[in-house]
This record gives sequence, structure tokens and C-alpha cells, in this order.
Amino acid sequence: MALKLPIYMDHNATTPMDPRVLEAMLPYFTEKFGNSASRNHEFGWEAEDGVKLARKQVGGLIGADPKEIIWTSGSTESNNLAIKGVADMYKDKGRHIITAIHEHKATLDPCKRLAKMGYDVTWLEPAADGIVTAKQVAEAIREDTILVTIMWANNELGTINELPAIGKVCKEKGVLLHTDATQAVGKIPVDVNAAGVDLLSGSAHKIYGPKGAGFLYVRRRKPRVRLTPIIDGGGHERGMRSGTLNVTGIVGLGKACELCRLEMDEETARLSKLRDKLDQGILSQLEHAVINGKADQRLPQTTNISFPYVEGESMMMAIKEIAVSSGSACTSASLEPSYVLKALGLGDEIAHSSIRFGLGRFTTEEEVDFTIDKVVTAVKKLLELSPLYEMVLEGIDINAIEWGAH
Ligand SMILES: Cc1ncc(COP(=O)(O)O)c(C=O)c1O
Repeated sequence: MALKLPIYMDHNATTPMDPRVLEAMLPYFTEKFGNSASRNHEFGWEAEDGVKLARKQVGGLIGADPKEIIWTSGSTESNNLAIKGVADMYKDKGRHIITAIHEHKATLDPCKRLAKMGYDVTWLEPAADGIVTAKQVAEAIREDTILVTIMWANNELGTINELPAIGKVCKEKGVLLHTDATQAVGKIPVDVNAAGVDLLSGSAHKIYGPKGAGFLYVRRRKPRVRLTPIIDGGGHERGMRSGTLNVTGIVGLGKACELCRLEMDEETARLSKLRDKLDQGILSQLEHAVINGKADQRLPQTTNISFPYVEGESMMMAIKEIAVSSGSACTSASLEPSYVLKALGLGDEIAHSSIRFGLGRFTTEEEVDFTIDKVVTAVKKLLELSPLYEMVLEGIDINAIEWGAH
């Protein structure tokens, strides 16, 4: 069968919905449209049953009690609620928060806001492998630390931070741990108790569920975590997040979690094989290409590769039949190099010519083969045109060159 182009290799950005998730959701748009907070009639009960099942399904995937799941609109909201909610609730205990410089913006920005409000934030810096270690966290914890927020797996690199070791450190020191597990949930085993996690964010659209639905796990025992809500109103979700529930989205999120739980082993085996094939296919044919982040401590379906001496934009143009993310985030008019790659010590140029490939449930081997071929051909061609590469071939140390004033 002919390959359908373009090929989607950006599953860390978002995923297509699994048809089985859509099927589970459909009745809740039409026949079962009730408000899950309506306690007086069948319509409400039916919707509430859907939400109840979803709580079990989400809890089942992360080892949590269904009552510990708070519904949100996605991980951005979950992170905001966890970080700002804990900061406000425990402000009399202390005002020190620990995070890392290469977290997602949905963590960095709430922390920055708190810093502006007078909280003291410690920004951990990873080594060149991208991993946040338990040792770093232990050394940063102080008397007045109220929260550690470290993501489980990084969205750009796929690197997996030192959980459960970080959880153990936080437990020993009696500090709450929030983890943004948006990229980890559904892809690798996540257990809130084994990992010593007190709050955990997840999002449906990263795991073949709908956009606009997510959750925050909030521990209820040992310790019982309390939060100041961001959205006040009818007191839904134990008063932590008011507003009529997005029943269809929640039902979809639940179904997506159940499928991940049932199929994770098989999916991990298949996707890690394909991802390794992609890595090897590229690295064996392009001697300068390098994997970013600790290669053997990554999500099974993510790889981030730098292609030195080729120009980032030309590279993206040359492989435009493959949907990927580049190492530059288009913010307003400027092409900013990825702050995650810069956190690993990469320079602007090399960050620009880096690509994240995110494989997913519907990725085929033919698509991986096509990608290897396209990337290798494109890079070889661009290297031929690259003045920098010519200098490298001539033995010139390009790092030692003074490029003059800009
Ligand atoms: C690690 C991480 N955190 C948070 C988010 C934001 O999630 P959402 O789109 O559900 O708000 C994303 C998605 O881009 C992510 O990858």
C-alpha cells in the first residue's frame, strides 16, 4: 500500500484520538447528555456513572484511588492548580519551591509568577544528559521548602527524571512532590505510591484521548494534600475545581487510560523497536548526528537528534513530508532556539538543527523507513552545501573561529 503523506511523527505534541475512545464518548454528547452534578434524575445519574468509571480508569493507570482524581481542562491547568494551589495553602509553612530550568512552560510560568509574588524558586540545572537527579533535589531542599515540582519525563527529549528516587527524598524530608507526568502517563509505568508522588498532572490529548480534558491527582492519605483552588464556584471536585464537568472529555480520558493500561507492554515493545530502528538508521548513516538526552533513560517512542553543520530551516523544508518538531520554538516573529536543548549546553545553531521525532500508536514500520531515508538524504545534501561542514572537512576548528561583531 502506498504511504500516505505527510507522516505524523509529532505524538509528543498531540495524538490522534483512538477510534475506541471516540466510540466511548459519542453517547455522552447526545443520549447521555446530563449534568453529572444533577442528583435528582436519571440524566444526571447516567452522566455521573460515566464520570465514576473514568475516575476508576484513570486511577487504575497510575495506582491512585478514584477519589484522588480532580478533573481539569488539561495539564496546563493541572500544573497551575498544583503549583499555585500548594504555594498558597502552605505559605505560612514556607515559601520555597524547587523546579528545573527545562520543565514545560506550564510549570515554568506558574513558578515565575510565584517568584514575582515573593516566593523563592530554586531552578535546578541538568547535566548534559538532561536528567534531574534525586541528589540535586536533596541538596536543594531547605527548612522552608514547601514544594518540589519536577516532571516525570521531558516533552522535548523524552528523558526520564529520577523518579521514584526523587519521591523518596521528598518523603524523607517531608516536602510535597508534584510531577508533570503529561508525557509519561500511558507510555511508561506510573505509580503514585511507588514513586512517592503527592500531586501528578496528566492530559488526555497526549494519550489518544480528546483535547481539553486532563486531571490532577491529589493525594488524600499520608499526607492529605490540601490546595487553594484557582476556580471557585459550585464546589465541584472536592472544592478544588468548580465548574460543570466536561463529561464527554472525561469519559474519553478514562477510556484512553484504560487502553494504555491494557496495551502498554505490547505498545512499548513495538514502539521502542521502531524508535531504535529510527535512531540506528540515522546515526549509522550520518556520522555527526547525535542523540540529545540520556539515550537509555528515555520514553520508548521519543528521540531528539541534532544534525550539526546543517541549517535548521532548510532541514525542516527538506523533510516537510514528515511532521516533526524542530529545536526552535516559533514565538512571535523570532526563531528562538529551544531552551530545553540550551539547558543541556547546546549552542543556538545546533539547537536549531535538532529534531524531535515522536512515534505513536498508529506509526508503521514503512513510515519509519521513509523517515530514515528522507532525513539521511536531506542531511547529506545539506552538508554538501554547508560552508561550515567544508571547513570541518578541511580540519578547521570552527569553535575557535572569531566570527566578528554582530
Ligand atoms: C510536559 C508537558 N506539560 C504540560 C503540557 C500542557 O498540556 P495541555 O496541552 O494538556 O495543557 C504539555 C503539552 O504540551 C507537556 O508536554
